Amino acid sequence: MPALLRAAAKVRKNAHAPYSSFRVGAAVLAGGRIFAACNVENSAYPLSVCAERNAVAAAVAAGRKRIDAVAVVGGSDRPAAPCGGCRQVLAEFAAPDAPVVYAAPNGQSVTTTVEALLPASFGPKDLLRAAAAESRGTMRGPAGTLRSAARVRGTRSTGR
Ligand code: THU
Repeated sequence: MPALLRAAAKVRKNAHAPYSSFRVGAAVLAGGRIFAACNVENSAYPLSVCAERNAVAAAVAAGRKRIDAVAVVGGSDRPAAPCGGCRQVLAEFAAPDAPVVYAAPNGQSVTTTVEALLPASFGPKDLLRAAAAESRGTMRGPAGTLRSAARVRGTRSTGR
């Protein structure tokens, strides 16, 4: 964790945050390697990307899809917790009990887990369950009625 925090604090210096001035650095441990990234904002504001998501993307691009630990450095005098979107992205690649530490630049930190940050999360299991239900031949229609999947599949659009 100290090495992850150091990596997050270092990369935070490269943050591109001219609009919010809120600089964030994140580092993830994946397959024994550290991947670090900062937030990158854009003049078209919604296109800005958080540090955590950029760090996850760097790990995935290097072929490491299993994240074992996460460190984030940001905030002011108090540590700032990862945003909701980043919690969802971390949950995709990290085990529920994977440690997450988020720290303020002054060193004050909070240690938690992926699951504590995002309890009762939506994930791949939900998609698999839905696919299995469909292949069993039943799925719920819009009004909550049971429809046969064969019937649903049999519904063809004219393409017009
Ligand atoms: N930000 C992060 O990088 N990570 C978070 O978890 C929260 C927010 C960034 C996005 C934006 O560039 C700035 O902080 C202000 O929201």
